[in-house]
Amino acid sequence: MKLSAGTQASPPAANEKTTVARVPARGLPGRGGGRASYVEAAPEWRATTRQVCGLWPFIAGSGTPMVGVPIGRDLRSAATVCCDPISWFARAGLIANPSMFVLGKPGLGKSSLIRRMAIGLCGYGVQPLIFGDLKPDYVDLIGALGGNVVCLGRGQGSLNVLDPGAATAAALRLVGDARRKLSEDALGRRLTMVAALVGLNRRGRVTDIEEAIIAAALGVLDEHHQPGEATLVELAAVLEEGPETLRRVTLARDNDERYRAATDGLQASIVALIDGALGSTFARRTSTPVSLAAPLCIDISGIAETDEKLQAAVLLACWGEGFGAIAAAQALADAGLEPQRNFFIVLDELWRVLRAGDGLVDRVDALTRLNRQKGVGMALITHTMADLLALPNEADRMKAQGFAERAGFIAMAGLAADQLPAVEKVVALSQPERDLICSWSSPPSWDVVEEREAPPPGRGKFLIKVGGRPGIPVEVVLTGAERAVHDTNKQWRQR
Ligand SMILES: Nc1ncnc2c1ncn2[C@@H]1O[C@H](COP(=O)(O)OP(=O)(O)O)[C@@H](O)[C@H]1O
Ligand SMILES: [Mg+2]
Repeated sequence: MKLSAGTQASPPAANEKTTVARVPARGLPGRGGGRASYVEAAPEWRATTRQVCGLWPFIAGSGTPMVGVPIGRDLRSAATVCCDPISWFARAGLIANPSMFVLGKPGLGKSSLIRRMAIGLCGYGVQPLIFGDLKPDYVDLIGALGGNVVCLGRGQGSLNVLDPGAATAAALRLVGDARRKLSEDALGRRLTMVAALVGLNRRGRVTDIEEAIIAAALGVLDEHHQPGEATLVELAAVLEEGPETLRRVTLARDNDERYRAATDGLQASIVALIDGALGSTFARRTSTPVSLAAPLCIDISGIAETDEKLQAAVLLACWGEGFGAIAAAQALADAGLEPQRNFFIVLDELWRVLRAGDGLVDRVDALTRLNRQKGVGMALITHTMADLLALPNEADRMKAQGFAERAGFIAMAGLAADQLPAVEKVVALSQPERDLICSWSSPPSWDVVEEREAPPPGRGKFLIKVGGRPGIPVEVVLTGAERAVHDTNKQWRQR
C-alpha cells in the first residue's frame, strides 16, 4: 500500500497546481517525521476467509484453487495446493481435459505424487486403475486401498485375449441399440487384440484379408462356445477345420487349395503365438477376470525388462481388457442401470511403454484422445520430453509429443537444463521457473553425520503448469501412512 501525504480534505481547483509529497518507505526523515531506520517484516498468519473476513488491509488470497486432492504447500506462500486432473476438469473447469503429464528425473517423487492423487481421488469415489504396473509402484497402495492386484507374466497368470470379459455380462443387461453397440465394441476389441498380438509376434503387419478371416473365425467360435471359453488354441482349430463361413471370406468356396493358401500364413502365425513365448500368457483362459468394482492394479513387474515383446503384448492386452471393462461400465451407467463412475488411469514409466513395441504409441494416442468422453482421468508419467522424441518412427514421435500437448496440465519435477527447450515447445516457462526446475535437479549431497546420501533437494517438489499461466511451485510432503506403503527404494534399504 502506498501512503501519500497531501491535501486530501478539499479537492484542488482545476487551475491550481498541487504538489504531493511522497513519503519514503521508511517514513519522513527529520524531527517529527517518524522515520524508522529498521523496518520489521510483518508477521504472517494463515487462516480461512471465515476467520479473517474482518481483517483489512493486509489480506492476501492464495493464488491456488482449493478444488481437488490436497497435494502439498505452495513453496512461495505456503498456501495449500489442491490438484488432480479430474477435479480440475470436472469441478473447477480449470483445464480442457482431465489428464496430466508428469516429467522429472528418476527418484524425485513422480510416482509418489500420483499415488497421493490416487488416494485422494479414491476418497472422492473415483476408481484408480493401473493397467500394467511395470515397477511395481502401485501394488502396495492398491492393496492398502482394498483393491485387487492381478499379476501377469511368465508363469504368473494368464489373460485370454478372446474373452469378451465384462462386456458379455453387461450386454445381457442391456437392450436394443445399447446392447448391439456394446457387443460389437467387444467383438472389435478382440479382433484388434488378436491382430495386434499376431503382428507383434511376427514383427509385421496383419493384412486386411487376415483380419477379415480372424473376425469370421471369432464369429464361428462364439456360436459354439460360452463367452470366455474359447482360446487361441480353438481359434487355430477353426482355421484348420475351415468351416463354410471362413471359406466365403477367403473366396475359396469349395477349393481346398485356395482356402489353405489364404489362411496358412495366419494359421502359422497363430500357432507360433500359442507355442511361442507369449503362449502361456495369452492362449489360456483368463486366470483372474478384470473387475472395476474396486481399485485395480495389474502387476506386470515380473516380466524382465529385456523381454520387450512380452511386455508390449501384455500391456496391449491389459489396456484392451481394461478399456473393455470401462466401456461396459459406461454403457450400463448410460442406460441408468448402474451409477456413473469415474476412473483415474495411471500410465507410469511411459518411456518404457512406448519403447516396448509397435502399436503402443497408437494405443496411448487413442486413449488420450478419448478420455473426456469416457469419464476417465489420466496421468502419464515419464522422465523427459526426450523419451517421447527418441522413438524410431517420425509419425510416432509426433504422436508422442501430442500427449504432452494435449494434457490438461503438466507437473514438472527437477529437470536438467538441456531438457528445457523441448519442454518449452509445449509450455511456456519464465526464467525464474526455468531456474527453479534446474535447481531441483541438483544431485543429493553427502550427509557426513548419517554417513549416507541426503535426500535429493528436488524430491517432492513440482511446478504445476496450465498452459501459459504462471506455474504453481508445490512441495509434496508424504504422511506417515503414505510413507509406510510408498517406499520404492525398499529393496535398496533392505540391503
Ligand atoms: N515428497 C516426498 N517426501 C519424501 N520422500 C519422498 C517424496 N516423494 C518421494 N519420496 C521417496 O523418494 C523415492 C522415489 O520416489 P518415486 O515416487 O518412486 O520417484 P519417481 O517416480 O520420480 O522415480 C521413494 O522412496 C519415495 O518414498
Ligand atoms: Mg516412478
